[in-house]
Amino acid sequence: MNSPMIRLYMVLALVVMVVCGCDKQTAPGPAAPAAPMARAGVDAKQEMQAGAALFKQYCSPCHPDGGNVSNPERTLHGSSLRSNHISRAEDIIRIMRHPISRMIRFDESTISDKDARTIAEYVLKAF
Ligand code: HEC
Repeated sequence: MNSPMIRLYMVLALVVMVVCGCDKQTAPGPAAPAAPMARAGVDAKQEMQAGAALFKQYCSPCHPDGGNVSNPERTLHGSSLRSNHISRAEDIIRIMRHPISRMIRFDESTISDKDARTIAEYVLKAF
């Protein structure tokens, strides 16, 4: 019997057991599957903040707090939007690209399609 070899195997076995044991302890617990949902929540919050900042920059001068300084009949509040058949983000983007009368036009070089959508989603949720 080659006893130094046996001792070496025992040491190796011990090392493997310890390593495996540690691995099991650090394995993710049952909370892990919830992570993607939590991330979606953070994304939604960031989108709202981005929308608020863009809205402040481009729209607030005429639509403070979702109002309308020159045409109080056409605010950005849900009831006003609905009565003018504006219910989707696409409807708001269309108005930015092709405004009705006194509102200035925002083309793609001023507000990108992505930012336009962010603003539109913000308007629908915020007011
Ligand atoms: C220069 C002032 C001005 C700016 C800036 C402006 N708007 Fe307007 N907006 C108006 C006016 C005035 C109206 C009322 C309709 C009209 O006369 O064209 C209006 C109407 C709207 C409507 C229709 C509201 C309804 O109830 O029918 C939406 C939606 C809208 N604006 C979105 C925006 C968004 C989004 C921005 C920023 C990207 C913006 N507006 C920037 C002046 C402005």
